[in-house]
Amino acid sequence: MQPACDLTSVSSALSLSSTGSTFRVLLGVTGSVAALKLPLLVSQLLKIPGIDVRVVTTDHATHFYDIGEVPVRVYTDKDEWEMYKTRSDPVLHIELRRWADLLVIAPLDANTLGKIASGICDNLLTCIVRAWDMSRPLLFCPAMNTAMWQHPITAQQVATLQGFGYVEIPCISKKLVCGDEGKGAMAEVSTIVDAIQQYLPKPAEKITAQGDEH
Ligand SMILES: Cc1cc2nc3c(=O)[nH]c(=O)nc-3n(C[C@H](O)[C@H](O)[C@H](O)COP(=O)(O)O)c2cc1C
Repeated sequence: MQPACDLTSVSSALSLSSTGSTFRVLLGVTGSVAALKLPLLVSQLLKIPGIDVRVVTTDHATHFYDIGEVPVRVYTDKDEWEMYKTRSDPVLHIELRRWADLLVIAPLDANTLGKIASGICDNLLTCIVRAWDMSRPLLFCPAMNTAMWQHPITAQQVATLQGFGYVEIPCISKKLVCGDEGKGAMAEVSTIVDAIQQYLPKPAEKITAQGDEH
């Protein structure tokens, strides 16, 4: 398990790539079995030139992948609370929402979908979402068992997120890990990477953004 970050390491990690030429992707991961694709998704994203990636994980999501196999910084709820000791300390969820140009939640499980739809913010990821700069893109990739997907509340909650301006990367049909077959599987990694690439600044925009500070 990766050690919790101290204040110095958080500050330096966040300021490492503060030039306007880097597009910063914050990848949220929740407790769906599809979280096992996290190392693959991160490695595919890192192939895109000019991109920086950080991960924010829920505690349940960590059951599905080995944090040591993720080649970028992974922030946990523990980090949020360990870095805040006194009044002047930075608040991690605010630092990360400032840092990120784009937030993608892949996979978004039924639990966190429900929390986001109703404004609940009881962990690092949902606090970032609650504090999100609505002018920046937020993409979400639902992933759940077919029976969960078919429950009428799912469509309502997905519509609520779309109403906020968040972009759904739809789930797909396939044989799920639990043995059920049907809709509810997370979109393919390649589909998610392609969707994120749509938001990368075009070369001309990059030049304009060189002096920007985030
Ligand atoms: C083996 C296993 C697989 C799971 N897969 C999913 C899933 O694909 N989608 C989902 O919505 N919930 C799934 N769950 C349930 C979530 O992990 C559970 O709702 C959890 O509280 C989510 O917490 P989080 O949203 O904070 O990550 C699974 C649970 C287990 C034990």
